[in-house]
Amino acid sequence: MRKKIVAGNWKMNTTVPEGIELAKAVVAKSAEVPADVKLIIATPFTHLYPVAEVVKGTPVALSAENCADKEKGAYTGEVAANMLASVGCEYTILGHSERRQYYGETDEKLVEKTKLALANGLKVILCVGENLDEREAGKHFDVCEAQIKNVLYNFTAEDMKNIVIAYEPVWAIGTGKTATSEQAEEIHAFIRKVVADKFGAQVAEDTTILYGGSCKPSNAKELFAQKDIDGGLIGGAALKADDFIAIALSY
Ligand code: PGA
Repeated sequence: MRKKIVAGNWKMNTTVPEGIELAKAVVAKSAEVPADVKLIIATPFTHLYPVAEVVKGTPVALSAENCADKEKGAYTGEVAANMLASVGCEYTILGHSERRQYYGETDEKLVEKTKLALANGLKVILCVGENLDEREAGKHFDVCEAQIKNVLYNFTAEDMKNIVIAYEPVWAIGTGKTATSEQAEEIHAFIRKVVADKFGAQVAEDTTILYGGSCKPSNAKELFAQKDIDGGLIGGAALKADDFIAIALSY
């Protein structure tokens, strides 16, 4: 049985004291969420150490939003996977469209990042998704397929146990424009097939595929009701503990 996950991606928001308060509020409400829905919060690097203290021993898991594509050394400004593991991260997001778009994150770099994350015991939330032009040109299946093949086809069925996929159509991120549940389900089912083509039906069946892009309390229920949607990667709505928990309760 694959895991249901609701993960908050805080992006570059909140100061450290604000982040600690937000994490405490999420933890305080986490008891309301059924045990089969895993809650994850992904915070900026600066917040990980203090937030790890807040979530320790609670059902809330900690994630980073990125990690370096190098193991260690003279890479000023980068944060290595083993550093993330050492502060208590269980996950890291990789390949978010904002990183692909603004920071030159290529599929090649994502292979290296994923290798290092897994080698250091982190689980990976790998983001894929098409932009508006690609969607309008009807290329969304091809784009997602290529992103998955370029990155995940370099890994094994065993590795896939520690990899979550997040489908995030770029045109839906932070825009208030959500993919309809039919649009999302169609591509989630397709992504599962791309996983099955390489790793077999069982691995595909066990892979958690999250939807991300303007997911909020008002639309989460319909999205999560779809057969191949196993939860959400939540941006804006994760900055309010009440909304984040309300989304998790939509299962
Ligand atoms: P959003 O962001 O929920 O604010 O659209 C989602 C994401 O980028 O992960």
